[in-house]
Amino acid sequence: MNPLNNVVIFGATSAIASAVARRLASSGARLFCVARNPERLESLLADLRVRGDDAAGERIRGLAADPADPATHADAWAAAREHLGEVDAALLAWGSLPDPAACHDSVEATEEALRINGTSAVALLTRIAPDFEAQGHGVIGAIGSVAGDRGRQSNYVYGTAKGMLATFLQGLRHRLAPAGVDVVTIKPGFVRTPMTEGFNRAGALWAEPDRVAGGILRALRRGHAVAYVPWFWRIIMLIIRNFPDWLFRHLRL
Ligand SMILES: NC(=O)c1ccc[n+]([C@@H]2O[C@H](COP(=O)([O-])OP(=O)(O)OC[C@H]3O[C@@H](n4cnc5c(N)ncnc54)[C@H](OP(=O)(O)O)[C@@H]3O)[C@@H](O)[C@H]2O)c1
Repeated sequence: MNPLNNVVIFGATSAIASAVARRLASSGARLFCVARNPERLESLLADLRVRGDDAAGERIRGLAADPADPATHADAWAAAREHLGEVDAALLAWGSLPDPAACHDSVEATEEALRINGTSAVALLTRIAPDFEAQGHGVIGAIGSVAGDRGRQSNYVYGTAKGMLATFLQGLRHRLAPAGVDVVTIKPGFVRTPMTEGFNRAGALWAEPDRVAGGILRALRRGHAVAYVPWFWRIIMLIIRNFPDWLFRHLRL
């Protein structure tokens, strides 16, 4: 079991990541939260300090920096290490759903979506991996998506970024295993967060962020390779991945 006593979260203001942070703060963990919006970060930190009984902000700190911008990574990682010392876990959580129609005919919109959801995460993983390797323990988790399992017309640019991230994590997991470092690919299904506002979010497939947070923490503690959250998405995606293309192309998904 991986201990989760010293944890850094990039994209901590995400509804899913905030739910993870709230659970960790309540358990007394030392946290370092990185997010791009200073006001939202401060309000998250204030909430976490109440939950973690850390009024002085000794255990729970943060830095306003955009994790989707690789130019911020060196300073943010250095600040996290300075606060945490040994890092038990790093969680990468930022992301945004691009407008699919805008991506259809815009190279710029497509590249921007790939940067926010894919290459920026790969850049951060590349920066932090050697320190985990040298440390010889710990767990790295990154939030991908079930959308990365199969391209479909409604969100294949986002899916491409998440699919790339999943393949990178797979290779990193292989590389870091001998060093005793776990790498967890987290694949949420449909979650009620600001990212999915505007969707029809009724039905049993939709989960609350706190439920997903519970699944993420379980996967990080156990060092699971790939965690579908909630669990039933593993079965759904097994079917979707294996659906024959000649039939799939007729579905409006
Ligand atoms: N919700 C779902 O159904 C779902 C499903 C599968 C995977 N995911 C993934 O889960 C992760 C967390 O998302 P969430 O659902 O919790 O969404 P969320 O609450 O909307 O949070 C999104 C996070 O990403 C940041 N962000 C958004 N646009 C950005 C940009 N252009 N540049 C830099 N940062 C940006 C946000 O920062 P601000 O707080 O400053 O806006 C926030 O921290 C993401 O990686 C997402 O792709 C979500």
